[in-house]
Amino acid sequence: MSKPMQEQKFYLSQKEIPRQWYNIQADMPNPLKPPLNPKTGKPISPDDLAPVFPMNLIEQEASTERWIDIPEEVLEKLLLWRPTPLQRAYALEKFLNTPAKIYFKDEGTSPAGSHKPNTAVAQAYYNREFGIKRLTTETGAGQWGSALSLGCSLFGLECKVYMVRVSFQQKPYRKMLMRLWGANCIPSPSEETNFGKKVLQEDPDCPGSLGMAISEAIEDAVTSENTRYSLGSVLNHVMLHQTIIGLEAEKQFKALGDYPDVVIGCVGGGSNFAGIAFPFVKEKIAGKEVQVIGAEPSACPTLTRAPFGYDFGDTAQSTPLLPMYSLGHSFMPPGIHAGGLRYHGAAPLVSQLAEDKLIEARNYDQLQTYQAGVTWARVQGSVVAPETTHALAAVFEEAKKAKEEGKEKTILFNLSGHGLMDLTGYEAYLDGKLSDVSLPEEEIEKSKQLISKYPKP
Ligand SMILES: Cc1ncc(COP(=O)(O)O)c(C=O)c1O
Repeated sequence: MSKPMQEQKFYLSQKEIPRQWYNIQADMPNPLKPPLNPKTGKPISPDDLAPVFPMNLIEQEASTERWIDIPEEVLEKLLLWRPTPLQRAYALEKFLNTPAKIYFKDEGTSPAGSHKPNTAVAQAYYNREFGIKRLTTETGAGQWGSALSLGCSLFGLECKVYMVRVSFQQKPYRKMLMRLWGANCIPSPSEETNFGKKVLQEDPDCPGSLGMAISEAIEDAVTSENTRYSLGSVLNHVMLHQTIIGLEAEKQFKALGDYPDVVIGCVGGGSNFAGIAFPFVKEKIAGKEVQVIGAEPSACPTLTRAPFGYDFGDTAQSTPLLPMYSLGHSFMPPGIHAGGLRYHGAAPLVSQLAEDKLIEARNYDQLQTYQAGVTWARVQGSVVAPETTHALAAVFEEAKKAKEEGKEKTILFNLSGHGLMDLTGYEAYLDGKLSDVSLPEEEIEKSKQLISKYPKP
């Protein structure tokens, strides 16, 4: 008799797509500390943010409503690729010889190839509703820039993307995608902003950083007509828009009659992690046992080694002071290939939950993460983004633990993006040209000193 077929993909019909986002601010045991005006040290007012963001998103940023309706027009765009299936990685389980059940949500199936369009379409919609005609943004790996280019194209807005120079050089096809979706993408630091000019005067070969590109994009937004700035991670409303991932997964697990013991995501600014994890953290706050793990690079170990304090979100100090784990706004992360994880801070919501021990964080070396990515490709077939390989490293670790403990754990992770445009990194790894870069303790000391200048959360 033949073996019964093991289904690997678990679908939600389009009619079952969640209609509301989940706002964790309604349930946190310790509410988020407010962003501060760096000049006065007092909480900022919505008007302080008005030159940078549209008021409808500023209101969403501060909202403590538990459930927020997804506008019909946003749903219509999300349905272009959502719901994404919940998938079970049987081949990997077999390869690792683990009793753990390994599930994942594949966000690489979106048009831009990652989770980022989930918030890009929402942000483009709210800006258009507010009468904005043009958005500016930064991008590291190019995923966010292409996602916002897509969002703007779907809602008829212009888009300007400042792309971190090293990535601009490493990833020609990402900028081509942005162009295809009608956006203008230039390398940062650039000659097009005062901040960029200043940096280039001091260092003409500056490779750029996310913090610098954010500064340029904000300067452009506040000095141009009908223009606002859009951020692909870190802010509360971005975490909110991403919760559709975890909410879908919850429904899919319910239909399967299973529930994760461990939820894993990689952390740059924190948005794909928040997206998959927050609906499960909600249950954890309510008493359910579930372990939630954020995986970051040891080259940029924000949640695992940096201090928790107030710091600027960008290098030029143009943002309010945000309560977060931070390596310091002037920190220049080493040029590792997971460009989307090279951010000095972490979302205030993710940071507060880490402070409150509702989530935990681990860091992994570059070679270990690429090893996990290569194993995944050879066993499961797909090529994941270098950022996602950090989540994989944590999955491998947990699967091994389950084997040692002889426990049939259910692991869920977020496959935050595909890596088909990130092959340079894989090539460097396979050619033996990559090395591990971990941060010396002096760097961490420097960030502690910098953060100690600002108010304590
Ligand atoms: C595929 C992918 N995963 C993860 C990240 C990290 O960002 P976040 O922590 O906001 O999810 C990025 C950022 O560019 C990305 O492109």
